[in-house]
Amino acid sequence: MKRKHLIRLGAGAAAGLAAAAAVWAGTAANAEDNAPEGDFEAQIIGGQPAEEGQFPWLVGLGSPGEGTPWERQFCGGSVIAEDVVLTAAHCVEGSAAEDLVIFSGSVDLESDAVVETAVADLHVSETYNDPIAMANDWALLKLAEPVDVEPIALGTDAAEYEVLETAGWGNTGEEYPVVAEWVEVPFVTDADCEAAYPDEVDAASMLCAGDLANGGVDSCQGDSGGPIMTPAGDEQVLVGIVSWGYGCAEAGNPGVYSEIAGFADAIDEVLAGWE
Ligand code: ARG
Repeated sequence: MKRKHLIRLGAGAAAGLAAAAAVWAGTAANAEDNAPEGDFEAQIIGGQPAEEGQFPWLVGLGSPGEGTPWERQFCGGSVIAEDVVLTAAHCVEGSAAEDLVIFSGSVDLESDAVVETAVADLHVSETYNDPIAMANDWALLKLAEPVDVEPIALGTDAAEYEVLETAGWGNTGEEYPVVAEWVEVPFVTDADCEAAYPDEVDAASMLCAGDLANGGVDSCQGDSGGPIMTPAGDEQVLVGIVSWGYGCAEAGNPGVYSEIAGFADAIDEVLAGWE
C-alpha cells in the first residue's frame, strides 16, 4: 500500500502565528505538507476508526485523476443535501469546480464501495477572511449528480452541547489513515477560546473544541472541511466545519471550527439559488 506524503515540521520550526499562518495559507493541494509539529500519538488525534455507516454524510474532497481516492483526498466535507457538500473555504479557495471531486459511500478510501462524484459548481463564502483571518471559512459544492447518502441537518447552537464529535481522514500524528477516524471533543467557550488565541477568534463565525487542559483530542491537517457534530436526540446535527488550530491536540490550543450558526442564512441563500 502506498503511503501519503507526510512531512513533519521540525520541532524547532517557527511556532505560533507564523506557523499557523503557513497552515492557513496552505492551498488545498498541499494541506498535507503542513503537518503539525510536536510529539503526539494516536488518531484523528486521539480517536478511533469510524464504523461503516456511522457518519454517512462524511465525504472526502480530492483531486480528479490518477491514484486511489485515499491518495487524492486532501480535505473533508459534509453532505447537506443530496447534491450539495459543505466544506471549508480554505480547502477550495482558488480551485475551479473541475479541480475537485467528492468521495462518498465508505469510511474506507481504498474500498470498492467509494463513489467518486464530480463537482459542477462551487460557492466560496463572500465573507471568508472577513472581519479577520479565517473568519467565515465555509464553501458549498454543487455536485454533478446526487450522492446516495443521508445528508446531515444543520444545527444552530453549538454552545448548548458539551461534547461534540469530529471525523475525517486527516493526520493521526503518524499517518493519513485509510479508514476515517472520529473523536469526541469537549466544547470550549468563546471566552476561553479568545483567551487561547487573542485577537484571532471571530466568535460570530468560529467555535472551538478540544481538551484545553490536557490536549490529546483534536482534528488535524487533512480533516479540514469535515464535520463537527453533535447528537440531537437520535439524529446528528452539524454545528461546524474543521478550520484551523495551532498544531494539533496541544493543551491550551483548541481546534477552531467554522460555526454554522453564524452563516446559516447565507448557506440557505446559496442553496435557494441552486434549486
Ligand atoms: N487547516 C487544517 C486542514 O487544512 C485543519 C487544522 C485543524 N487543526 C486543529 N488543530 N484542529 O486540514
